[in-house]
Amino acid sequence: MRAAAVVVAVLLAGCGAEDASRTAPPLKDPRTDVPLGTAVRWDVLSEDKGLQEVVATAFDSVTPENEMKPEVVQPKRGEWHFDDADAIVDFATGHGLEVRGHTLVWHQQVPGWLSEEKLSARELRAVMAEHISTVMRRYRGRVKTWDVVNEPLTDEGAFRTAPGAPWLPTLGPGYVELALRDARAADPDARLFVNEIGAESGGPKLRALVKLARTLKAKGLLDGVGLESHLSAKTPPTRARLQRTIEQLAATGVDVELTELDVEGGAPPAVYGDAAAACAAVPACKRVTTWGVSDRDSWLGEDAKALPFDADLRPKPAWAALTGGLRR
Ligand code: G3I
Repeated sequence: MRAAAVVVAVLLAGCGAEDASRTAPPLKDPRTDVPLGTAVRWDVLSEDKGLQEVVATAFDSVTPENEMKPEVVQPKRGEWHFDDADAIVDFATGHGLEVRGHTLVWHQQVPGWLSEEKLSARELRAVMAEHISTVMRRYRGRVKTWDVVNEPLTDEGAFRTAPGAPWLPTLGPGYVELALRDARAADPDARLFVNEIGAESGGPKLRALVKLARTLKAKGLLDGVGLESHLSAKTPPTRARLQRTIEQLAATGVDVELTELDVEGGAPPAVYGDAAAACAAVPACKRVTTWGVSDRDSWLGEDAKALPFDADLRPKPAWAALTGGLRR
């Protein structure tokens, strides 16, 4: 956590129900050892001065929640839309925050044209290379970490696809390596990640992820693995289990980050604290990112109460547990 004093000024008085802005309460500087990030959506952040204050002062990095995804960035072939992604990068760099780029190749949020055009392998290969190079070069030097490939595996540990996603059916499982090669060429200084959901508690998906990480690391193509960590209050991994998962990945030589932490069902402080402590216990675990700041804006809906700040932007007990756990 940055050493800057995290005293959030109360800037806005009397926010009406119609006003997207919230008043941010003062926060004590948590001074974590492990950097802490959060996902942001520009449609929300741009309208909410209180949220801007919290993000700028209490976090070290931001991940654009949707703004860098292919369907947003290249909604039509060769038509590029970077306005919202640029705005987030400008906000971040203006406040001394890092940016995690998310994401370049995924089986969801695939642009309509890419599903419809039924490209040959050769054409798709060229489209992939152009997309990755256009996006990464635009942000070279400003976005230092990229989720290059998102969620490549099934729960059973096979490679995964979805209707409309051409990567696996057209290019085969080698698409993951191809994407990483393109990313390495586009920005040799960037940290390249594969980001995966639902591998925190072990099992076939984690085993396949470890194998994939080992292979890609040996080829010099992978720097890190993201464990998304969309956890549930009912069946969270224990601290020991999550730490073992992080250690198994780190043993392949890659960095690990918890990239999308939230806890559906009330954000119990113990679950946040355990996730943070599991990361802090492993030197290769380099950052924890929450998937949003406030319950009001969570992709799971406000009722899931999954995030460390409540709908009025007040820190919940989960916040103290999270920041307290991020000490080495
Ligand atoms: O932008 C449109 C808007 O114009 C329209 O009016 C509105 C109507 O529904 O939809 C808006 O798009 C939505 C977008 O979020 C922005 O709010 C999409 O419908 C919605 O599908 C999209 O959901 C995102 C989801 O990824 C897509 O699969 C979530 O916000 C985002 O939190 C979620 O994030 C993913 C990570 O990228 C990968 N890991 C899992 C995680 C949670 O699913």
